[in-house]
Amino acid sequence: MKKKYLVLLVVIGLLTTDAIIMAQNTLTIDATQAKYRINRNIYGHFSEHLGHCIYEGLWVGENSPIPNKNGLRTDVVDALKNLQIPALRWPGGCFADEYHWRDGIGPANQRPTMINTNWGGVTEDNSFGTHEFMELCRQLDCEPYISGNLGSGTVQEMSQWVEYVNSDNVSPMTDLRKANGQEKSWGVKFWGIGNESWGCGGNMRPEYYSDLANQYGNFLRNYGSNSLDKIAVGPNGDDYNWTDVVMREMGPSIWGLSLHYYTWANGGETATNVTEENWFGMLQKTLKMEELVSKHSEVMDKYDPGRSVSLVVDEWGAWYTVEPGTNPGFLYQQNTIRDALITGINLNIFHNHCSRVRMAAVAQVVNVLQAVVLTDAEKMLLTPTYHVFDMYKVHQDALMVPSDLKCNNYEYNNSSIPALSVSSSIDKDGKMHVSICNLNPNKEEKLSCLLNGFDAKTISGTIITSTELNSHNTFEKPSEVGIEPFSNFKLKGGSIDVTVPAHSVITLEILGDFKAKAANKIDTKSLKQGIRYSRYEGLWNRIPDFSSMIPAGSGIEKNFVFPKGMPLSNFGLEYSGYFEAKADGLYDFYLTSDDGAKLIIDGEDAIIHDGLHGMTERQGTVFLSKGLHTISLPFFQAGGGSGLKLHYKQPSGNKSDIPDELLWHK
Ligand code: AHR
Repeated sequence: MKKKYLVLLVVIGLLTTDAIIMAQNTLTIDATQAKYRINRNIYGHFSEHLGHCIYEGLWVGENSPIPNKNGLRTDVVDALKNLQIPALRWPGGCFADEYHWRDGIGPANQRPTMINTNWGGVTEDNSFGTHEFMELCRQLDCEPYISGNLGSGTVQEMSQWVEYVNSDNVSPMTDLRKANGQEKSWGVKFWGIGNESWGCGGNMRPEYYSDLANQYGNFLRNYGSNSLDKIAVGPNGDDYNWTDVVMREMGPSIWGLSLHYYTWANGGETATNVTEENWFGMLQKTLKMEELVSKHSEVMDKYDPGRSVSLVVDEWGAWYTVEPGTNPGFLYQQNTIRDALITGINLNIFHNHCSRVRMAAVAQVVNVLQAVVLTDAEKMLLTPTYHVFDMYKVHQDALMVPSDLKCNNYEYNNSSIPALSVSSSIDKDGKMHVSICNLNPNKEEKLSCLLNGFDAKTISGTIITSTELNSHNTFEKPSEVGIEPFSNFKLKGGSIDVTVPAHSVITLEILGDFKAKAANKIDTKSLKQGIRYSRYEGLWNRIPDFSSMIPAGSGIEKNFVFPKGMPLSNFGLEYSGYFEAKADGLYDFYLTSDDGAKLIIDGEDAIIHDGLHGMTERQGTVFLSKGLHTISLPFFQAGGGSGLKLHYKQPSGNKSDIPDELLWHK
């Protein structure tokens, strides 16, 4: 064959191979289907009295030579602040079910000690307690999440902890708090009722746990506006029966159900001991999280079809054999590029399931398991896991954009897993972010992304990758793995071609126009202020189909309030009209009702808070373009207490009443 034909054939061959590879990986990102907000609490962390997480990692005490503010080390707090960590879980873990909070208040030198039987059998001096934890959350500007002791405590002990922390009444507990230097209640929202009650928290059956947790939960009170979001102990990995029983027995009274799932390494394998075999194995085990959140959600749907109970993945991450020479009870491990992939995959899964997963916590924040920060005396380093949290923080509170990925497999030893993992969102400024992980350690992947409902104009990118499969940061070389600029992408027409290097995590920032669902083309001139209501009589335990009934009366109210003269029980109301969005953006709505209610915007369910229940709040988010949107709110009252409130938070505003001027009817 003549040389020039050979060259031509080779070129055609290369082009065709390239085109085939391109065709294999496609991602369709559909902004027109975006509905749910990625709750920032998915980016939560976990701090337990375990090894050097609290002591040395976070708390060094005021007299330490390590720079600190009120005893909390400044370098670590600053690093965590940069991550905008939204929520922090404390004091455990297994430790929580042995912790007696009253041992951790008052003058530090008078606090009793205890043995930390779960973690190394060391003496805990209780110098870090409730006040110190609240100071940490204040410095981090994050939501505290306290796990109460159900395993070895009492109902009174847990109930008084809530009173100590949240009440502003005159009472022995609030006097005690004031005597310890804290005048005003802190207002802690998130309370866990025990931890791993199927294991270290008491070896219970789900039936027994549910009865006990219902009893404890009943005495965890709301004080004034400090209302609680209670989180029940959920399943261990794939224990779907646990979820079923706890949802059946506790569903209406809890805000969240926890799920614990770790990516376990085989015995003897440390974090830096990376072979292709255990690389594949660890990523394969991480992908199991997809199945777990899908199937637990499905079980929860049985009792909670409106998805008002959140799945709280409050312990996740890689668990290796500890670093040689360290205390096995302290769970200290290094962190490599493989852990960056484990982080990206888990966060992508949580984003894509954000209609159910509204909170999570990686285990743990400093010096324990898959930590974001490691310390050694006065030294500190940021792990590859830290850098993924940093890169991904743009997704916090953004609108999740559903995507459909068709990709190659990464094959190893006759097994295969998808080579790519992705998620995308649009933030409050209308910027789209697409995060992509390439799980394949050997091969780059070409990905063609098609955008629907979003006109891309310019793109920039960042990447976390490495030279070796066990690349990691050390105190001597703290910058081996970090965030670098990334530009191997091309925008053409409505699509973006990206070349994703082997073993990498990428985030693209895409600027352009989000074509959100248009508002109704109605002029307020053709409308009147106020909202229309129809009143019904009857006894229901779920919202009935009011459209098939004849109303007993109707009228107009300025807002979502009960019309005058409503009876105490057995009635229904259906409000309908228009809500005026003053600007494009994400709107949060908060529906509080006793009994069931539902918020429907532009014909779609925004919040379902159905069934018989007390005056509890449920939240939903919708992206609204400026203008008028249909709004309706069916509600029913059976017996007992009754009430209805609708609040909202407009883009870049605070939670408030909906002003009367924004409600219209024809
Ligand atoms: O994160 C370490 C431990 O793992 C926690 O204390 C416990 O809840 C889990 O088993």
